[in-house]
Amino acid sequence: MGNIIYNKRLTEEYYLMKVEEKNNAEMGQFYMLRAWDNEPLLSRPVSIFDRDDDSITFLYKIIGKGTKLMSTLKSGDNIICQGPQGSSFPKVKGKIAMIGGGVGIAPLYLAAKKLMEDKDNEIDIFFSLRGVEILREELSSVSNNLILKTNERVVGLVDADKYDYIFTCGPEGLMKDVYLGAKDKKAIVYVSLERRMACGIGICYGCTCKTKSGNKLTCKDGPVFLAEEVFIDE
Ligand code: FES
Repeated sequence: MGNIIYNKRLTEEYYLMKVEEKNNAEMGQFYMLRAWDNEPLLSRPVSIFDRDDDSITFLYKIIGKGTKLMSTLKSGDNIICQGPQGSSFPKVKGKIAMIGGGVGIAPLYLAAKKLMEDKDNEIDIFFSLRGVEILREELSSVSNNLILKTNERVVGLVDADKYDYIFTCGPEGLMKDVYLGAKDKKAIVYVSLERRMACGIGICYGCTCKTKSGNKLTCKDGPVFLAEEVFIDE
C-alpha cells in the first residue's frame, strides 16, 4: 500500500501520480495498481515513469473505469502498488533513440534518464501525442535532442543507421513501424509491449504473446523484448 504524494492532472487525459513506495525498480518495469475494492475486477498495469529509492511516479491516461477512479485520488490517499514486475530495458551504451507515443512515453522517459547518467551516451527522443503536448521540460532534461509532436507521426524522422539502439513503446502500429524501419539497419530495437493484464504476475496466462522462441508472458518474460523476437510475422 503506498501513500500518494501527489496526483497531478497534466491534461484532460494524462495524470502524473507520485507514490511513497520503497523500491529497487528498473527502467521498463511496471506495477499493478489498485485503489478500489471490487469494481473494476482487475488492477491496472502502469509503467514506471520515474523513481527513487522511496517513491515511484506513474504517468497514466484515463482509458476506463480504473484509471478514472485513479484520477480522483488525492495527496494522502492510499493505493495498492504490486511490483515492480516484469523485465527491464538493457543498460546499453552508444547512440540511442527513444521512439514512443501516448502513454508509452513513460518507460522511455525513465530509460532515457538512466542512460543519460553515462555521459558517453547520446539520447535522441522522438515522441508523438494526440491532442496536447505534455512534459516537454522533463523530456528535454533527459535527452540530447527532443522531437515532441502532437497529431503527427515521428517514426519516419528516424534513420536507424545513425543509432546503435532504439527503444520503443506505444501503440502496436508505431512499434511495428519502428521495427520495420530498422530492419537490416544498424540499430538494435527493443520494444516494451502493452497488453491487457489480469494478474500481472504470470498466473493467468492472459497476456501471452507469440515470440520466435514460443509463447511468452508479457507480464513476466516482458514487457521488454527484442523487437525481432516478437514481430515474427512482419
Ligand atoms: Fe496474468 Fe500475465 S497478466 S499471466
